[in-house]
Amino acid sequence: MTEPVISLHEVSVRYATGRETVTALDKASMDVLPASSTAIVGRSGSGKSTLISVLSLLRSPASGSVRALGREIGHLSDSDLSRLRSTLVGTVFQSFHLDPTFSAADNVMLPWYFGSGGSRRVARARALEVLEVLGIADLARRLPGEMSGGQRQRVAIARALFTAPPLLIADEPTGNLDEDTALQVSDALYALPGTVGSAVVVVTHDTQVAKRAERCISITRGTLNYHDAVKPGARGEGV
Ligand SMILES: Nc1ncnc2c1ncn2[C@@H]1O[C@H](COP(=O)(O)OP(=O)(O)O)[C@@H](O)[C@H]1O
Ligand SMILES: [Mg+2]
Repeated sequence: MTEPVISLHEVSVRYATGRETVTALDKASMDVLPASSTAIVGRSGSGKSTLISVLSLLRSPASGSVRALGREIGHLSDSDLSRLRSTLVGTVFQSFHLDPTFSAADNVMLPWYFGSGGSRRVARARALEVLEVLGIADLARRLPGEMSGGQRQRVAIARALFTAPPLLIADEPTGNLDEDTALQVSDALYALPGTVGSAVVVVTHDTQVAKRAERCISITRGTLNYHDAVKPGARGEGV
């Protein structure tokens, strides 16, 4: 059986606010298989950001377990957890978060500027390689201000891929784009399982974007609902 990139088993997250406690995730279970695509949809306040923070290993659950790259995160020290996080996940945001004074290639190399290691030459070659994956190697020298929204988001996706993470998480990646560009950018994201082998998880309000993923999970008040045949453990076990 294929080991999931990350799997959540009955994960609950609660927030204490004054007198009441909000259950933002309620016994959420999901597997993210290697090279798969998953869309997560839900109304505002349903728990999407909380789920993303758990999948990104930024929040440890109050109860339940999280297993990532074969390791139970509850057993890890803070430094091991942060190392695992940087190996596991690349993130794409709605608002791109590019440095306006850096070229596309330098933006993609930001992990190297922050000390991911190796020589500058190798890092730049890697940046060009991931820009090529996104079909924008010709924009390597452009500044973000000289690019369209869709091109900027492709640069941000390329940056998230720089370290070859097995899991790419995109939080409303098309929220700032027009309809056509949104579909092009989501197609670029959903192509990644096939091209570079990363699993892709996309949070979106856009039903057209959600429909293009292999599977869709909706959240209602912290509860996950699956919209396909693949439930945790349903694929590859006992066959
Ligand atoms: N830091 C926090 N403190 C208290 N309540 C929070 C906090 N973050 C989120 N919540 C609550 O948890 C629930 C889920 O929030 P969130 O995960 O941000 O949902 P979404 O991203 O779908 O809008 C909401 O009821 C929200 O008000
Ligand atoms: Mg949110």
